[in-house]
Amino acid sequence: MSLLETQKLTIKFGGLTAVDAVDMSVEKGEIVGLIGPNGAGKTTLFNMLTGVYQPTSGTIIFKGGTLTKLNPTKVSRLGIGRTFQIVKPFQLMTVLENVMIGSFSKTNSMAVAEKKALEVMDFVGLTSVKSIQARNLTLAHKKRIELARALATEPELILLDEVMAGLNPTEVNEVIDVIRKINSQKKITIILVEHVMQAVMALSQRIYVLNSGKKIAEGVPTDVANNPEVIKAYLGGGYTHAAS
Ligand SMILES: Nc1ncnc2c1ncn2[C@@H]1O[C@H](COP(=O)(O)OP(=O)(O)O)[C@@H](O)[C@H]1O
Ligand SMILES: [Mg+2]
Repeated sequence: MSLLETQKLTIKFGGLTAVDAVDMSVEKGEIVGLIGPNGAGKTTLFNMLTGVYQPTSGTIIFKGGTLTKLNPTKVSRLGIGRTFQIVKPFQLMTVLENVMIGSFSKTNSMAVAEKKALEVMDFVGLTSVKSIQARNLTLAHKKRIELARALATEPELILLDEVMAGLNPTEVNEVIDVIRKINSQKKITIILVEHVMQAVMALSQRIYVLNSGKKIAEGVPTDVANNPEVIKAYLGGGYTHAAS
C-alpha cells in the first residue's frame, strides 16, 4: 500500500479546473518531485492534500484512510506537514516561538513543545537565531523557519512548496542538504514542489509534471527531463523563473 494516493483528484474554481483528475502515488521513504509551469496547480494540489481546499471530486488516501473532507488541523495530526510558498512567519515572534506553533500540533505542553522546537531548529540550522524576531531575518532564514515549523508537527509526509525560491546558489545547496537529511535521518517522505530544476533532478527519485491542472508526465528525472511534452510545457510560456 502506498503512503499517499490520489485518485482522479479534481478541483474547480468557477470555470477553471485548477487540478484535473490527477492520479498520483507516493511510497513511504520516497522523495517525489512535483513540477510544472506557474499556475499548473501545484500549490492547489498541496492545499487539497492538507485539507485547506475540499476537492470537487476524486479521493485522497493517506495510510489507507481517506483524507477527503478533513480539515488542516486533523490532517496535520494524521502526519502530513507542509511549508508555504509565501513565507509568513509571525513577524513579532521569535524564531523559537514560531517553530513552537508547529509543536502544538502534537502536544499541549509548553515544555514538550519547546524541546521539540529546539531539536528541529538544531536540525535545520536555526539555533543561532532562536531568540531573534522573525521580521529581522533574511529570506533564507524565514524559509528555514517554515521547514522547522513543519518538522515540529512530527510529520510522516512533508510537502515542500518552493523552499528554495529566491535563495542564492549557496543557500540552495544548504537547503538541498537539509532536505536529504530530513529524508534519510528522520525517515520522512517528501513531496517537493520546486522551480530550481537542478535541485529537483538531484533530489527526486520520481517526478510528476502538471500543466494546466493535468498530469502530463511522470517518471524518473532523466525521462521526465527529456519528455517532449514536458519541454513544450516549459517553453510554452508562463514559466518565468530565472532558475529554470
Ligand atoms: N482560491 C482560488 N480561487 C480561484 N482560483 C484559484 C484559487 N487558488 C488557485 N487558483 C488558480 O488555480 C490555478 C493554479 O494555481 P496554483 O496551484 O497556485 O499554481 P502553481 O502553484 O502550480 O503555480 C491558477 O490559475 C490559480 O489562479
Ligand atoms: Mg505555487
